Amino acid sequence: MPELIRLGLTGINGRMGRAFQALLQDDLRFTLAAKIARSGDWRAAPGLDVVIDFSTPAGFDSALAHCRASKIALVCGTTGLDADQRARLQEAARDIPVLYAANFSLGIAVLTKLLREAAAVLPDWDLEIIEAHHSRKVDAPSGTALALGRAAADARGANFDEVAAFGRHGHTGVRTPGAIGFASIRAGEIVGEHTALLAAGDERIELTHRAYDNTIFARGALRAATWLAGKPAGAYSLDDVLAA
Ligand SMILES: NC(=O)c1ccc[n+]([C@@H]2O[C@H](COP(=O)([O-])OP(=O)(O)OC[C@H]3O[C@@H](n4cnc5c(N)ncnc54)[C@H](OP(=O)(O)O)[C@@H]3O)[C@@H](O)[C@H]2O)c1
Repeated sequence: MPELIRLGLTGINGRMGRAFQALLQDDLRFTLAAKIARSGDWRAAPGLDVVIDFSTPAGFDSALAHCRASKIALVCGTTGLDADQRARLQEAARDIPVLYAANFSLGIAVLTKLLREAAAVLPDWDLEIIEAHHSRKVDAPSGTALALGRAAADARGANFDEVAAFGRHGHTGVRTPGAIGFASIRAGEIVGEHTALLAAGDERIELTHRAYDNTIFARGALRAATWLAGKPAGAYSLDDVLAA
């Protein structure tokens, strides 16, 4: 890892871009060497060690092209990438180190690991995933809740699409054994809460993560960036960062 990491940041005027810049003011590990607000800005970008991209699918395209051409490590958290973009990211990993995560909260990464373990060791326990978000959120269940459900289904050797149970209303009948249930709460300004509830007989386990501020994603991505800078080419994940 270089002593002072020369960082390029996309989407600098967005919500995440602002969260990164607030954190970077007091972060002595990095110098913010390139602030990219749109694709053309790459033309003036200096030599960089790592780029963090939290922008849009178009912003991702230009960041990936620049990183690959200039051999720069890429940490990416932009969501909504299509299959072609995901394939190009994998392909770029032959030339540069890349790390993608749909959720950069280190707490959620640990929760996912814990849930995988619990779901595998307790294959017969009922599993429900409950999430809560602010009233402006338009999709349900959250992408993170779905990812938790997929991780648990994988750990049990089950097909997620067959065991997922979304919402209950009216005469639903008894719970299907092996189902992974989802419930969503939408209220006020809740930043993001996820609980995996496992229950059997007279006992239950609840694994809960609560996000209080969007900066947790920026913190996770900065930690990933320090880890990724100087690594050999390859596709890495947050699990790799946690294992280090
Ligand atoms: N993985 C995670 O943990 C995580 C967590 C939170 C958010 N996200 C994702 O991160 C992304 C950004 O979120 P956000 O809330 O900050 O969104 P946002 O407020 O809409 O910001 C996106 C920014 O990207 C800029 N942009 C557009 N095209 C660009 C380009 N070619 N090059 C550089 N910047 C460009 C936009 O500029 P204009 O306004 O000028 O178009 C905008 O300022 C989204 O995909 C979001 O889902 C991921």
